[in-house]
Amino acid sequence: MEVSIHPLARTLRVQPGDNLLDVLRANQVPISYSCMAGRCGTCRCKLVGGRALVAGPEDSPAPMAAGDTVLACQTTLVESCAIEIPELDDVVVHPAKILKGTVTGLENLTHDIKRVRVGIPKPLDFSPGQYATLQFTPRHIRPYSMAVARGADELEFHIRLVPDGRVTSYVASELKVGDPIRVSGPLGTAYLRRKCDGPVVCIAGGTGLAPILSILRGMLDAGMRNPVHVYFGVRTQADVYGLEWLRELQARHAALHVHVVVAAAGDGDGFRGGVVTKAVADDWAHMGGWRAYLAGAPVMVDAASILLRQKGIDPEHIHADAFHASGV
Ligand SMILES: Cc1cc2nc3c(=O)[nH]c(=O)nc-3n(C[C@H](O)[C@H](O)[C@H](O)COP(=O)(O)OP(=O)(O)OC[C@H]3O[C@@H](n4cnc5c(N)ncnc54)[C@H](O)[C@@H]3O)c2cc1C
Ligand code: FES
Repeated sequence: MEVSIHPLARTLRVQPGDNLLDVLRANQVPISYSCMAGRCGTCRCKLVGGRALVAGPEDSPAPMAAGDTVLACQTTLVESCAIEIPELDDVVVHPAKILKGTVTGLENLTHDIKRVRVGIPKPLDFSPGQYATLQFTPRHIRPYSMAVARGADELEFHIRLVPDGRVTSYVASELKVGDPIRVSGPLGTAYLRRKCDGPVVCIAGGTGLAPILSILRGMLDAGMRNPVHVYFGVRTQADVYGLEWLRELQARHAALHVHVVVAAAGDGDGFRGGVVTKAVADDWAHMGGWRAYLAGAPVMVDAASILLRQKGIDPEHIHADAFHASGV
């Protein structure tokens, strides 16, 4: 039996029961992957012909048919089929690692956001915009987005205290400099696409600014000079942070425009008022050809994603890993 790979026009001979990601890697097909466990989403591709099985809950595999999106690492081949892999430009391979880090800095960015810096023994290879799972103790584990671009020996995270949140309460009241932290990753699909020269819109809600800063730094480090509009939405003026970093980035890139949108903006506080998605809607009539990165609470990300599609952005060019609550 065979798997045909679009758009490469390649056909690979395979056996029933083969794992799709193993087959692609063994044949040097360029495909992104990281966790190899169905968690990070980076090995996503599309079944465009035939059927396959994907691992389901409690090991009951679910059948997938043409048109379904599958994670290659979770897909078992059962008959000849055709697969479409993402654009070649998008391929990133960062094998997932678990690093034993140490808290090297803790500082308040706002009344409820902490900047947590984590020293790591060796660099974590990741693409700007990705996230990692932080294990503060065996009972305090959550995903957080990296706010620095790759290559650093220190990672930076921006963590907002959620009222009654289990892990963020621990971070706010017990975490201290010198504590060990386990960092596993990288994870996530909303990473910077480097081979793009069109306009870019970044929409960040609250600590969604962390991955957006990483993306902006990554763009400038890669020499990308695309026009960029950053919309940073917060609830009140007291929630605004990171303006000095955004200004530094603007000093390096004249076509980087920053719009801070405060939902409860009062008279004279100097910020634009209202909801961040409304600001984008008001500013742009048509956004065909743009690329978008969205980060923050799921409701904001969903609303922004719907809006940007209506404005004409190709859904394949809207990248988001919303901050879903983990629920454990
Ligand atoms: C891909 C990804 C990246 C993330 N990156 C970041 C990041 O960079 N910075 C950051 O601060 N957070 C980030 N998060 C959110 C983070 O993982 C936790 O969900 C959050 O810190 C709350 O954890 P907790 O244990 O304190 O709350 P929990 O005890 O899990 O939740 C307590 C209550 O608060 C609700 N809740 C949980 N999270 C939120 C929220 N964000 N807003 C409103 N209500 C909430 C829950 O539904 C629950 O009712 C990210 C999440 C994901 C999935
Ligand atoms: S490599 Fe397949 S989901 Fe992470």
